[in-house]
Amino acid sequence: MEKIDFENLGFGYHETPYRYVCEYKDGKWGEGKLTEDPNVVLNECACVFQYAQTCFEGMKAYKQVDGKAVIFRPELNAARMSDTCERLMMPPFDKEEFVRACKAVSKANIDYIPPYGTGGSLYLRPYMIGSDPVLGVKPATEYMFRIFGSPVGAYFKGGIVPTQLKISDYDRAAPNGTGHVKAGLNYAMSLYPVMQAHAEGFDENVYLDPQSRTYIEETGGSNIFFITKDGELVTPKSDSILPSITRRSILYVAEHYLDMKVTERKIALTELDDFAEAGLCGTAAVISPVGMISDHGRKIVYGDTVGPITKKLYDTLVGIQLGTIEAPEGWIVDVEK
Ligand code: PLP
Ligand code: COI
Repeated sequence: MEKIDFENLGFGYHETPYRYVCEYKDGKWGEGKLTEDPNVVLNECACVFQYAQTCFEGMKAYKQVDGKAVIFRPELNAARMSDTCERLMMPPFDKEEFVRACKAVSKANIDYIPPYGTGGSLYLRPYMIGSDPVLGVKPATEYMFRIFGSPVGAYFKGGIVPTQLKISDYDRAAPNGTGHVKAGLNYAMSLYPVMQAHAEGFDENVYLDPQSRTYIEETGGSNIFFITKDGELVTPKSDSILPSITRRSILYVAEHYLDMKVTERKIALTELDDFAEAGLCGTAAVISPVGMISDHGRKIVYGDTVGPITKKLYDTLVGIQLGTIEAPEGWIVDVEK
């Protein structure tokens, strides 16, 4: 197994010793188990290859300040994956078994959860694929659900430094009005615009609502939020963005820990100049400040350092995840229990 430098991790795949696998056949899920085999061998006509019948989740396991290994709110990932499965004609996976399996993968790979203080975590990637051959356009009848873990550091280069974003020329391409779908095919549609944005020097795209192209949605891999000049947290209301678990968590943190007003509402592209701070939020992005958004030549600048409220949100959320700040009931799941 590769020797991992936990102090200098980016966001990439590092193979770990164990992963979980469970198969669906004859109308039911079988017995799940841990396996050491990282490879999946499938028929050439498997539904996942032909019609991209696949979806995934993302969450993180952390080593807390007292050395305990924990996962952040995995039952919300289990629930969101079930919603995704329903939309993609895939058989939902039992939510309790989902959480048990996340704990099992984290525990089996415990030496690959980066130590407290490194800023790293073990990214857990549950995913499901339609695995048997289909040629007509229809769902598979057999499925595979797997979870692997990979130690990761910051998603954006440089850690918590302001990102440069581009208002995308493309749509996010979620299937019509189905923001809850975290499906492989959505992300494939964002590869072209994200590579174009990178080539132009941006970190990410900001997608607009596909209907009017006048409201802010989210980026390729995170939700977005803004802080008004009088300290209110606002974040887009839309049914075509992913309902981010990190966003749900920071709305709670802002309201209950930081005594802030929080509002979910439509946010027009024309309002961007009125905000004091902006940030991205997601499992991979954590809370990443936004330094600038470029809208076809119009530049909206939020600054080249992290804003004070974004910093407070970051410190509180990360403190809860790492056990230095008391967590709300049920947010932290001990992988050993
Ligand atoms: N939006 C998109 C498109 C994402 O890929 C992600 C990442 O998971 C998020 C939002 C954030 O969701 P969460 O906070 O549940 O990780
Ligand atoms: C996540 O934050 O879990 C994501 O899915 C973002 C990206 C790595 C796909």
